Amino acid sequence: MTSETVARGLEGVNVAATKLCRIDGQKGELIYSGYDIYDLADHSTFEEVAFLLWNLRLPNAAELTALQDNLRAERPLPDLASRILREIVGQIRPMRALEMSVIISGALDPQSSDLTNAQLKVTAARLTARMPTVLATYHRLRQGLEPVAPRDDLGHSANFLWMLNGREPNELEARVFDVAMILHAEHEMNASTFSALVTASTLSDMYSAIASAIGTLKGPLHGGANEAVYKLVDAIGTEQNIPSHVEALLARGERVMGIGHRVYKTTDPRAIILEKLGHELAAVSADRKYFDLSLKLRDYLARKLEGKPLYPNVDFFSASVYKMLGIPSDLYTPIFAMSRITGWTAHLLEQYADNRLVRPNALYEGAGNREYVEIASR
Ligand code: ACO
Repeated sequence: MTSETVARGLEGVNVAATKLCRIDGQKGELIYSGYDIYDLADHSTFEEVAFLLWNLRLPNAAELTALQDNLRAERPLPDLASRILREIVGQIRPMRALEMSVIISGALDPQSSDLTNAQLKVTAARLTARMPTVLATYHRLRQGLEPVAPRDDLGHSANFLWMLNGREPNELEARVFDVAMILHAEHEMNASTFSALVTASTLSDMYSAIASAIGTLKGPLHGGANEAVYKLVDAIGTEQNIPSHVEALLARGERVMGIGHRVYKTTDPRAIILEKLGHELAAVSADRKYFDLSLKLRDYLARKLEGKPLYPNVDFFSASVYKMLGIPSDLYTPIFAMSRITGWTAHLLEQYADNRLVRPNALYEGAGNREYVEIASR
């Protein structure tokens, strides 16, 4: 099928069928394999959601325990990855460290080109388990601290905060972070998921596909927006500066980070849940300034952009929620990847099970046929 039109940004184009996720951008609905995101945020854990995405059903108690055991066993990093992290610490940003660690894990896995469903699930769990260790290790090392060993008695999210800070999170902190992980786990056919699928469609391995996805998530129009929101709120500084700062930004033709979405034409349900969690944290936090300023910014933008379909997206409140959890801003996007690894790998399971090479066309609009001229005559 060829066409004389270009689907810029592939807007409105279905590039795959999926059983994983459904979004209604008009109603603000987000459904993971039949379950409403509000229900999952209220009742589930990140590990249960990971199982759901990999198996298209929630686990029973024995299955959940088996997955938790598997994730715990996969937490430690290969020796080479630890040594390289020590070598490069402080020289690259954490997102690159994450990308690099995925490539190293792939290089060291003799089964990496085994694309059977069972082996792909092993890889999916391995990458999910290792990413928190990579980020926590990198963050400790860059502060001149030794890495904190994972704790078998803590769940996936609480263990990350433990390894990152060397302090066990309280119940609220652990729950808020776990819900943030659930909210970021999956989101249908976004840019990073698509890039993972393009890589996998050549029958390249899952590690390479995930490295592609991480590179794609990094950009400020996608997952990089959460760090950009932090920088924006930081630059605004006080409520009084909001109008002048936003006016100047829009006058320069720039975008307000954390606002707008290709699919949602109402508030992103993940932003609604994160705002609620933000209020819970702020009630007991000594560091609520960014959250309060984000609320003021959101209210100002609602008035300023009234009539335009521009509402807060997931990145808008994740920045100030992570800030209240004491997480440094350059980890916000890597944390997004640390959660989305489950959705990426789930889509890859679908892609490998029913693969077709992704090879679209481009509409040529260059020069007509030209006579070749030897270099001496040009
Ligand atoms: N600030 C100001 N204006 C905006 C914004 C924004 N954040 N987003 C869109 N607009 C405006 C555009 O300038 C355009 O205006 P115009 O019609 O007058 O030219 C109109 O809204 C439509 O914008 P598009 O670029 O067509 O919308 P698109 O679907 O391509 O953009 C995107 C979606 C990239 C997310 C955009 O809203 C944006 O840049 N937001 C800021 C970055 C961000 O928060 N990204 C995270 C998204 S969520 C995620 O990936 C996890």
